[in-house]
Amino acid sequence: MKHIYLDHAATTPVSKDVFDAMQPYFREKYGNPSSIYKLGQEAKSAVEHAREEVADMLGAKPREIIFTSGATESNNLALKGVAFYWSQNLKKKPHIIISSIEHHSVLDTAEYLEKNFGFEVTKLPVSKEGIVDPTDLESVIKDNTVIVSVMYGNNEVGSIQPIKELGEVIKRVNAKRVRPLQNNGKSHDFEHENSLQGSDPCSQPIVFHTDAVQAFQYLDCDVKGLGVDMLSLTGHKFYGPKGVGLLYVKSGTKFLSQQQGGAQERGLRAGTENVPYIVGMAKAMSDTRKQLTISKQQIADLRDYLVKRIAAEIPDVVLTGPEIGKKRLPHIASFIFKKIEGESILINLDLLGIAASSGSACTSGSLASSHVLTAMGYDDLLAHGSIRFSLGKMNSKEEIDEMMKHLPQIVEKLRGMSPIK
Ligand SMILES: Cc1ncc(COP(=O)(O)O)c(C=O)c1O
Repeated sequence: MKHIYLDHAATTPVSKDVFDAMQPYFREKYGNPSSIYKLGQEAKSAVEHAREEVADMLGAKPREIIFTSGATESNNLALKGVAFYWSQNLKKKPHIIISSIEHHSVLDTAEYLEKNFGFEVTKLPVSKEGIVDPTDLESVIKDNTVIVSVMYGNNEVGSIQPIKELGEVIKRVNAKRVRPLQNNGKSHDFEHENSLQGSDPCSQPIVFHTDAVQAFQYLDCDVKGLGVDMLSLTGHKFYGPKGVGLLYVKSGTKFLSQQQGGAQERGLRAGTENVPYIVGMAKAMSDTRKQLTISKQQIADLRDYLVKRIAAEIPDVVLTGPEIGKKRLPHIASFIFKKIEGESILINLDLLGIAASSGSACTSGSLASSHVLTAMGYDDLLAHGSIRFSLGKMNSKEEIDEMMKHLPQIVEKLRGMSPIK
C-alpha cells in the first residue's frame, strides 16, 4: 500500500540535505560547545554559524536568537518570561492578551498563568474566517498589559493574521505610555534585574510576540517588517528535525529566563545545545527560503485542486478559514463534513494509508471539539466534523486523485451510519 501523507502542518520529513548536514555532529564533531578544547570549539562554531544564518533570515541580530527545544518551549518562554518579569516590577498583576485561536502552547500557558498566578488574560475574538481585528486589540489593552501574542498563520484553518497592523496598534500604545523607564542610559538587554520593583503600570512597553511556526515556510518573517519583539519557530515544520526551535527576542526586551543550570544561550536558556539539530534547523530554514516562491505556488495550486474536487464531489461540506486566495496559508485546507465526526473519516483514510488530521482532540476518551472552530463561531456538532489536509512539497496531483477515489465513499458510508440526520 502506497502511503499518502497529507499532514505537513503536523510535521514534515527531514530532507536528505538537512540529514546530511546534521550527520557529522553526531559522531565526529560531537563536542560540547562549552568545552574549551578544539572538539568543543568546533561544535560551538557550528552553533554560532547557525545562529548567524537564522538571524540573517529573520532580519535579526545573532544575539537576538535563543535556541530552544521547539516552539512549545519558545512560546512558554515568551509568555512566562515577560509576565514573570513584570509581575515583579509592576504594582498590578500583569495582563496578557492572546488570540482565541492560538496553538495550545500559547493558550494553555496563558491559562496556566491566569489560574496559578492570578495574571489577567484576555482572548481576542476572531471573525468567521478566523482572523483577528486590530481594532479589537486596541479596545482590550489595559495599563497593565505586558504582552500580546497572536500567531502569524493558524495551524488548523490556515488563516493569516494581520501581524503588521497589530504591531502598529501596539507601537502607538507604547509611544503613549506615560513614563519611559529609567535605565541610566544602559541597555536592559535580556535582563534579570528587579530594580523597577513597584513601577506604575503604563511605564512598561507592551511586548508583541508571534508564533510563526506555520508561516515561516511561506510568508516573509522579517521581524522588523512585521514589527514584532518576539517570534517562535520550530524546526520540523519545514523539513528540519523535531525537538529544536528558536525564540527571537528583540534587544532590550525584558524577560526572565525560565530555565536555570548553565550559561548557555547567554544565560537565557540553560542546557547543553543540541548541536546537530541546531545545524539541521538552520539548513532547513535556508533551503526553505531558497525554494519559497516555487513551493508556495506549487502547493497553493495543489490545494486549490483539492478544494475544488471536494466541493464538487461531496455534498454538505464547508471549507473553513478565509476564502481561497485570501489571507490563507497555501498548505492548509480544512473542511467540516456535516453530520459525521472527523475522527471516523481519519480512521477510514488511515486504513487506506492516507494520513490527515482532525481539529478535535481526544481527551480522556471523549472528543473535545476544536477551540479554533468554536472561536470562529461553529457549533460543537459541526466542529466535530472537521478534517485538515496539509500539503507538502512531495505531494502530487496523482495523490489527491487517489485520495478522492475514496473520500466521497467514506463520507457517504459514515453519513449512512450517523445518528445525526
Ligand atoms: C502554530 C504552532 N505553534 C506551536 C507548535 C508547537 O511546536 P512543537 O511541538 O514543535 O514545539 C505547533 C506544532 O504543531 C504549531 O503548529
